[in-house]
Amino acid sequence: MTLKVGYLGFEVSDLAAWERLGGLLGLGVAQHDGISCLLVDDYARRVQLLEGPGDDLVYMGWEAADLAEFDAVRARLDAAGVPWTEGDAAGARQRGVQRYLAFRDPDGLPLEVALDLERLATPPVSELVPGGFVTGDAGLGHIAAPSSDYRASSDFLRAVLDARVSDYIFHPLAPNLTADCVFLHTGPRHHSIAYAQMPGPAPKRLHHFMLEAASIVDVGRAYDRLRAAGEELTMQLGQHPNDRMVSFYVRTPSGFSLELGWGGVRVDDDATWQIAEYHNFSLWGHQPAAA
Ligand SMILES: [Fe+2]
Repeated sequence: MTLKVGYLGFEVSDLAAWERLGGLLGLGVAQHDGISCLLVDDYARRVQLLEGPGDDLVYMGWEAADLAEFDAVRARLDAAGVPWTEGDAAGARQRGVQRYLAFRDPDGLPLEVALDLERLATPPVSELVPGGFVTGDAGLGHIAAPSSDYRASSDFLRAVLDARVSDYIFHPLAPNLTADCVFLHTGPRHHSIAYAQMPGPAPKRLHHFMLEAASIVDVGRAYDRLRAAGEELTMQLGQHPNDRMVSFYVRTPSGFSLELGWGGVRVDDDATWQIAEYHNFSLWGHQPAAA
């Protein structure tokens, strides 16, 4: 299968602040059926901002290439004994898809698989990100989500979405204590989901989501703009050891972070990909916020 991240839906309490952040990042903002969407590429509704008190992820949509792939996910859900529901017409209209199935991972992360995502007749052109964003066969980006059992979460995604493990990070926190993360891909993007083992309930369904710019210059300029605007950078510029992404993180108005990155490696051939274990989150940088 070649599932890609197609869209993310967030319930946000401060829509104006989200639109302002989107503008600083160089993302267009468009209204579709009364829903505010951040534009990343020629897809109409990549990031859907739904007004409400939740300030959290309300759905992560995976794009099926065609009806056969859509049906294959349903068959995998049934085979794994995972309950699913078919979205209604209003839900499909909200997401800009022809149809979708909704289900949850073992921790309740709301996932969907969808068909025929709405595209724009004219792709947006961003003056602030002239190089554009890396999407295409890599999909929208990735999320990092907390997990009560990262191995079970990984097994779930492998069974249901035909995901493959990219690698692991076991970051030392204290003697005999590591932060354990698994990174999974469903296509050429190094990971579309990372799960991080959490000792207890997590405050949000995701730690961050990531968008990838095609040019490091555009990432650096966004970094400067956000700093000048007084936005809170939850991690400064740095580079991850596994996907080699050069990135920084900014706190969104909903409390979780957005990672803006460049230069992520691709997994183009699962037959030759080597699953590695890393022992730090960053090769350099990614220091916590500082003025
Ligand atoms: Fe990330």
